[in-house]
Amino acid sequence: MPVPVVIDCDPGVDDAVALLLALASPELAVRGVTAVAGNASLDDVVRNAGHVLDLAGAPDALPLTAGMAGPLTRRRRERDEAIHGEGGLGGLVPAVPPRAAHPGHAVDRLAEAALAEPGGLTLVALGPLTNVAAMLARFPEAGRALKEIVLMGGAAFTQGNITAAAEYNFHCDPEAARFVVESGLPVRVVGLDVTRSALFPLDRTDRLASMGGAAGAAGELLRGYAMRYEERSGLTAVPVHDALAVAAVSHPDLLEWSRGWASVECAGELTRGALVADVRTPGRERAVAIATGVDAEGFTSLLFERLSGYADLTSSTW
Ligand code: RIB
Ligand code: CA
Repeated sequence: MPVPVVIDCDPGVDDAVALLLALASPELAVRGVTAVAGNASLDDVVRNAGHVLDLAGAPDALPLTAGMAGPLTRRRRERDEAIHGEGGLGGLVPAVPPRAAHPGHAVDRLAEAALAEPGGLTLVALGPLTNVAAMLARFPEAGRALKEIVLMGGAAFTQGNITAAAEYNFHCDPEAARFVVESGLPVRVVGLDVTRSALFPLDRTDRLASMGGAAGAAGELLRGYAMRYEERSGLTAVPVHDALAVAAVSHPDLLEWSRGWASVECAGELTRGALVADVRTPGRERAVAIATGVDAEGFTSLLFERLSGYADLTSSTW
């Protein structure tokens, strides 16, 4: 039976690719998409998510709901155009306007989805955790109804990517990240520890870009993302962070996991947003599973295969 999921995201190029992967995964049943400000403003991420759902040919009935426009306690940091490009999708702005978001708020939508399938729904969080934390705080019973939370974020045993200590999603809203990680709910963390070890090669990006439909659009998105990433990192392959978090739900065996205690630094002058994890101390509560190893070839082949599948299925307006 496919695993029911709801995806909270901040498209963002890798969020866009993650959505395409999820919608092309028979192992998953996408019940809804919610958007949170992060890589781009709330208006931009909602617009971008709508474009991606159109590109994927997702049913119009699949709810897309807007969420929080910024972090819980601080001003939102400016969007990261250096990596995600103008507007958050690499400067690609399709000619056709995107589908509109459904009415309502993401916090309510996430709670409704969780309560509709007690014990069955996986919440996949691909951006700052503002929507997720707000839902857990406003509707604790809905949090308890979740099967699990699988999130892309943190850098448990490696350097951050927005500061030396912190990964971008956690740094955007450390208080929200701490609330989720300390919630006591089943949380799986897919962080930079593994996403940086599963880089998508440029030759596969180019092969996708030569295809039709959403496969070609995904290739174009990834090619631009890889070029910007190379300017910053010098690497000629690119981490598709959020897609690995989706694969952690459809194919958990692609990753190795360590269980332990975890929290997020909120006060450190130099370490604000850092994921602090203890997977060693015997007898410590172990609610959190942290991905510590990845089958890189298995993941990149899966991603290439699933994205290629769009070549004949969809027509691209991008
Ligand atoms: O650090 C990587 C994360 O930050 C990804 O979710 C990417 O989309 C950005 O939001
Ligand atoms: Ca993201």
